[in-house]
Amino acid sequence: MESNEFTRANVPAWRSARDWLAEPHGTVNLGAAIDRHAALRPDQVAIKVRGADGTVSKLSYRALCAETTRIAHALRVVGLRPGLKAYILLERSVEFPKLVLGALKAGGVAAPLFAAFGPDPIATRIGVGGEGVLVTTHALYRRKIAPIRARLPQLRAIVLVDAPEGAWSDGVFDLNLLIAESGEGPCSVDTDESAPALLHFTSGTTGTPKAVVHSHAIGVSLVATGREVLDLGGLDRFWCTADPGWVTGTAYGVLAPLLIGATLVIDTAPFDPQRWLDTLACMRVSVWYTTPTALRMIMRARPLGQPPLEATSLRVVASVGEPLNAEVVEWGRTMLGQRIRDTWWQTETGAIMIANTPAGASADGSMGRPVIGVRAHLVRRLPLGLIHVLDDHEAAEGELAFDAAWPAMFGAYLDQPARYRSQFSNGLYLTGDLARRDARGDYWYVGRVDDAIQSSGHLIGAYEVERVLMAHPAVAEAAAIGVPDDTCGEAVHAVVSLNAGYAASDALATELRGHARARLGAVMAPRHIEFSAELPHTRSGKIMRRQVRAQALGESIVDLSMLEEASLHEA
Ligand code: WT7
Repeated sequence: MESNEFTRANVPAWRSARDWLAEPHGTVNLGAAIDRHAALRPDQVAIKVRGADGTVSKLSYRALCAETTRIAHALRVVGLRPGLKAYILLERSVEFPKLVLGALKAGGVAAPLFAAFGPDPIATRIGVGGEGVLVTTHALYRRKIAPIRARLPQLRAIVLVDAPEGAWSDGVFDLNLLIAESGEGPCSVDTDESAPALLHFTSGTTGTPKAVVHSHAIGVSLVATGREVLDLGGLDRFWCTADPGWVTGTAYGVLAPLLIGATLVIDTAPFDPQRWLDTLACMRVSVWYTTPTALRMIMRARPLGQPPLEATSLRVVASVGEPLNAEVVEWGRTMLGQRIRDTWWQTETGAIMIANTPAGASADGSMGRPVIGVRAHLVRRLPLGLIHVLDDHEAAEGELAFDAAWPAMFGAYLDQPARYRSQFSNGLYLTGDLARRDARGDYWYVGRVDDAIQSSGHLIGAYEVERVLMAHPAVAEAAAIGVPDDTCGEAVHAVVSLNAGYAASDALATELRGHARARLGAVMAPRHIEFSAELPHTRSGKIMRRQVRAQALGESIVDLSMLEEASLHEA
């Protein structure tokens, strides 16, 4: 395993963040670190929630501290122990941050699961993540967990945040009853900075999802980037729109703002352009972190030419997950009165790595520059795991890589040490993204090295989709690809060949879409299904997704370097 040498880098922003997070005896528990604000500013609002019906409720840092301590006790009672996972399957709600912090206080590893996943992806992920407890709502439990309970021997207990009366049976517990019966005293496990804190699942194009492990040291990068990139301080009302199921939902949706002592704004309603604009205004959001997809949908609802938006408290707008095109930046400048800041990072990096910061005046459409302390490079992969690092001082294009020494660097892919090692070479972490650096030192997004699908900011492994399609009796083979989509970046598209005895029809396409949706959930299920007599294969028998994609888009096959060239011109 690569050792994380960030402490030797002697970066003042990291030192000061670490000093703030660490206990006097040097340990760091991110759940407990938030209690410091309860001691210093107990009445400061920690979380402000806008419910679906429009009612607003508030939680002070004092209350957050007390409630997360009780949750830590309750989770210990049902068997959460240091190093075990607390799977958290929740939609946007005040419960999500409370459960993350409570699990961390108990020394557990918070492992959020996307609530829109169907039973299959949930079971796969818990299978990869291993032993622990699961926290969810009664409705999600009935729909997604009860049908597969027998396939989840890893779960010591299931805890419902809203259990109906008398729901304790079969290892299913009522969180409120557990809290009522648990201890009141302090409950925070001393964890070393390198102890695991978070587990996030991310997809590659082949095989099972990878479980990315982050330690409590992630907090150092989150505090540093929260200050530098998002300009967060104790007076801000910060709204991160990410779903709790993805890394952003925990990193910036819970930890960064609460470690900094800001007020976290949560809107429990699903996305709707007008609703979100109302939330910006009525919750007096000062710092907003969202995605290009959401911005593009709002832009469509309120195009240039209409009156600017009324979000007068807004001071910083940032986005992540996909390329932020220059048109959206231009729209933001006029309609929001802000230069939307692009930020680049990925599950593995744990925190923002490249961004348009207030300090650097980077070009519209570029991702910006590495944040303080982070050193970026562009590299070419050579045979035998070797790499060639391009001259750092020149404009270039290649795979984006970083010195493997920043606080939030992931510590492992759970149980896959070889896969982890293969992401590193020469002391560098290789991201799998292609980027271009211009003569001014700004970085521009080019694409993925592999062919994972990127839809609405989610990285979807083609194989996970294909496997489910192929489980249908009609399907012989399937290739899942991403096709360009104005709204979500890429839409999931599948091309399938059929088994003997089945004929292509609209009815079958509809049935396959339903089959995939029931198992995969709405985000991962293909939007379009196309039939093909036979899929193209490599000689070793792998489906050639790139060719499938070219055919689906009616393009002739061009080589990859030309594709990259084309996306450069678009940028
Ligand atoms: C991949 C990581 C951490 C955010 C949520 C997704 C793409 C991320 C940008 C950006 C263009 C971006 C990359 C990256 N990506 N930010 N600003 N511009 N592409 O985390 O699921 O691990 O996905 O999202 O391809 O590798 P993730």
